[in-house]
Amino acid sequence: MGRAHKFLVRVVRFCFFLQEGKQQQRGEASSLKNIQVSHPTSYMSSHFLTNHNYSVQPPSSSSPSKIISTTTKSIKSTTTPTNKRKHSYYYPTTIMASAKIGPTQSPLLANQPKDTINLAVGHPMHSELPNKIISDALKRCGSKLKHNQLDLNYIPSEGPTGAVEELCSFLRRQYKEEEKEEEMRVTGYQAKTEQNENDEKKMQSKAGTTTTTATTATKNVLQPEDIFFTSGVSHGIEMATSILAKPNDIVVCEKATYFLATKIFEDHDMEITTVKSNEFGLDVNALKIRLEEGDTFINPINSILENVGATPRKKRKVLFRPKLVYIVPTHSNPQGVTMPQKAREELVRLAHEYKFHIIADEVYHILSWSKEPLPDRFCKVERKYLAKNPEEANGDFRAVVSVSSFTKILAPALRVGWIETADSVMRGEFSKRGYIISGGNSAGFSANVVCEAIKQTETEAFMNDLKGSYASRCAVLCNKLEREGCGWEFEKPSGGYFVWIKLPEGVTSKSLEPYAQHLKVAYLAGERCSANDACKEDLERYIRLCFAHLSASEIQEGVSKLSEAVLRVMSFQDVESKRLGED
Ligand SMILES: Cc1ncc(COP(=O)(O)O)c(C=O)c1O
Repeated sequence: MGRAHKFLVRVVRFCFFLQEGKQQQRGEASSLKNIQVSHPTSYMSSHFLTNHNYSVQPPSSSSPSKIISTTTKSIKSTTTPTNKRKHSYYYPTTIMASAKIGPTQSPLLANQPKDTINLAVGHPMHSELPNKIISDALKRCGSKLKHNQLDLNYIPSEGPTGAVEELCSFLRRQYKEEEKEEEMRVTGYQAKTEQNENDEKKMQSKAGTTTTTATTATKNVLQPEDIFFTSGVSHGIEMATSILAKPNDIVVCEKATYFLATKIFEDHDMEITTVKSNEFGLDVNALKIRLEEGDTFINPINSILENVGATPRKKRKVLFRPKLVYIVPTHSNPQGVTMPQKAREELVRLAHEYKFHIIADEVYHILSWSKEPLPDRFCKVERKYLAKNPEEANGDFRAVVSVSSFTKILAPALRVGWIETADSVMRGEFSKRGYIISGGNSAGFSANVVCEAIKQTETEAFMNDLKGSYASRCAVLCNKLEREGCGWEFEKPSGGYFVWIKLPEGVTSKSLEPYAQHLKVAYLAGERCSANDACKEDLERYIRLCFAHLSASEIQEGVSKLSEAVLRVMSFQDVESKRLGED
């Protein structure tokens, strides 16, 4: 092709390009006109619109350009219906622009649209990760290796030698559990046991029989033999599930739960069910009633029988016997609520009566700035229960598996966590897993690094600062939510990562989505937190916001955008209902 020919082709292309641009501009202008003419606005919405210069048509993923800014800064379309959901948990249906990871962004969000304020993701803030603490701990581990003070051989099943004791002392400091308390309570327990033994001997001599007497002494304070290192909470749940449940067993979850835990139960082909929740999470009384009364079984053949006019089979009661109850009892995810002491005690009692296990995900127990003392951790509740019920203490059933980790108090990438059990009876089960016998403890060398870190007073100071920082950003989020006050409701948490918001009447997380996407603010939809499909509908008016991941100014900006999005939904509904009324 000659030079002149090439030049001509370029000129023609350029003309086409100019023509296309003009057509697009004309299209936008006319669609704006249509909207303004056909939807008169109410006082509230017109007030809102004048202040914000927006049209009222909702953007939809199929028609992304429907929201049109009348300001000189045009709002670019950010949605497309054809995009795959790459990070479906945190950002539903969006163009995944290859944004660079900002200083406060988690690497898992590298693909979210540029400049998005992500209040959905439950990750720590990049700049708050303990890089120096971990690098110092690694240096100390390196020096120990050099001097043969650290072993690179297989690690014992429950964790590196010495590290279990180190973790135990760290946790006792964090939980403020005193050795003195232990002595006192154990003596109390032994006295009780001796008393029981005497009573038992008297009864046996009367009846002329002999039975074995109580021998197990339950200690009331965390002991090294109650701890098992894991590769984090997720691994702890996976392990507990594979040990304690089989396919088709029932697991009870809160309706709104840590949604990624349910995936683990699904992996094990468990049946996930829920019981009613109250303002503190799982309603233990509702669970008790279901355990006592059972479920109503309706034969699935009935629908066919009814169709052909035959008499349906009678409804009958079936026993409700779950294998597991999974809860996040302290500063829960997503609701940020804490189960009270009495409910915990009742749940442990029920677990012993009906022989189910409680997986207590206590990952936020240490991350608390509550002025009130927290209720006991679940293992402590069970220790007290065993101390009062020696016959149970002598048996081999233990209800509680508590899972926690350094994910929230140090860093997720370390993959170091622990299982706490009331005593060594349950812990022994974890050592029996084939892959642990084969490969040794899974936390491996990382557990040594973390132990080097937690020996240092600066690490506990870091954790205290972190709590202070979360408490202040939690306050920023809650104050801003209050100030924006667009009709949403929420409780102010005193720990954890999240605020759980009930949207105003008529607004759902789904109706909010296109507006939020357009304004580039992300939240976690309540339905995403539902334990199963059956309770999705109950959660459609809820969203979860995280205050851990973003800075105070980002949080404020995010909430402004969110409240704007909520107002836009409300304005649109207002206009729509007027329009329908006029029709
Ligand atoms: C309730 C809950 N459990 C577990 C996890 C994950 O913990 P890990 O990183 O230790 O597996 C999270 C993280 O968000 C969580 O919120």
